[in-house]
Amino acid sequence: MFASKTAFLAAASVTLAAVLGPNLSRAQQPAAPLAPITLEGDAARGVVLAETCNGCHGVPGSHNAYPSYHVPKLGGQNADYVEVALQGYRRGTRGHETMQAQAATLSDQDIADVAAYFASLPGEAEVGRMSGTALQVEEGRRKATACVQCHGQEGIAAAAQWPNLAGQHESYLLEALTQYKNGQRADMLMGPLMAPLDDATIEELAAFFAAQPHLHNTARP
Ligand code: HEC
Ligand code: HEC
Repeated sequence: MFASKTAFLAAASVTLAAVLGPNLSRAQQPAAPLAPITLEGDAARGVVLAETCNGCHGVPGSHNAYPSYHVPKLGGQNADYVEVALQGYRRGTRGHETMQAQAATLSDQDIADVAAYFASLPGEAEVGRMSGTALQVEEGRRKATACVQCHGQEGIAAAAQWPNLAGQHESYLLEALTQYKNGQRADMLMGPLMAPLDDATIEELAAFFAAQPHLHNTARP
């Protein structure tokens, strides 16, 4: 029936794709890069939305319950990156159920507004909460040469759609890097970069970026 084995395989895979195509879970599809939202953000509207968010993000020292790690700081984070991150939770390529549920309720305009609000908050540059040793920080600095192209020499990103890492909590950085490594967070750039790194290196990188002062809390006085 088929002229060659290749033709048979081609036909079979077309059939398979036709059957499975729409049913492939999102996690199995490569995560196309997300772009910042093009709508103008309104920080005055964002403040209202941020009430809910600050229940976790605005409480210094608050933890994700399981696994246990610090809720990330948003003060001093790039608005464009916050928009990219929220869209990632909304479409499911970032795997955190609570944040997925939060993001699912947000429209594009809401995302632009809440990002504008967090970006507008002034604050003192702070280091992240950390337990890494000075030696780990120094090792991390050495190994972070692989990261500076995008995240900057000291963890301030080279472009606004990329995250600032400086001053983020160490346990959160560790969790994020582990998620890229195990695919729970799908990203075309970070996934392949993390895949070959061992746990000790990932810990050193997290310690280094947490020790650079920048991101601050969004708690209101
Ligand atoms: C119940 C606590 C909780 C609430 C409420 C919450 N968040 Fe989060 N948020 C988290 C946790 C925990 C993470 C880290 C999730 C992960 O591991 O990916 C996170 C991650 C994020 C990130 C990614 C940060 C980064 O550096 O990548 C953004 C952006 C964010 N949240 C914004 C919001 C906004 C906006 C709201 C309100 C609409 C909100 N969050 C409400 C707990 C919360
Ligand atoms: C080619 C550019 C590029 C390079 C090089 C790069 N990153 Fe990233 N990084 C990104 C992008 C883009 C994201 C956001 C991905 C997403 O949307 O989840 C990111 C996200 C992250 C995050 C998550 C931050 C957060 O707030 O959730 C961490 C941590 C991180 N990178 C650490 C590193 C480390 C450590 C290195 C070096 C070993 C590195 N990156 C190298 C582009 C890069």
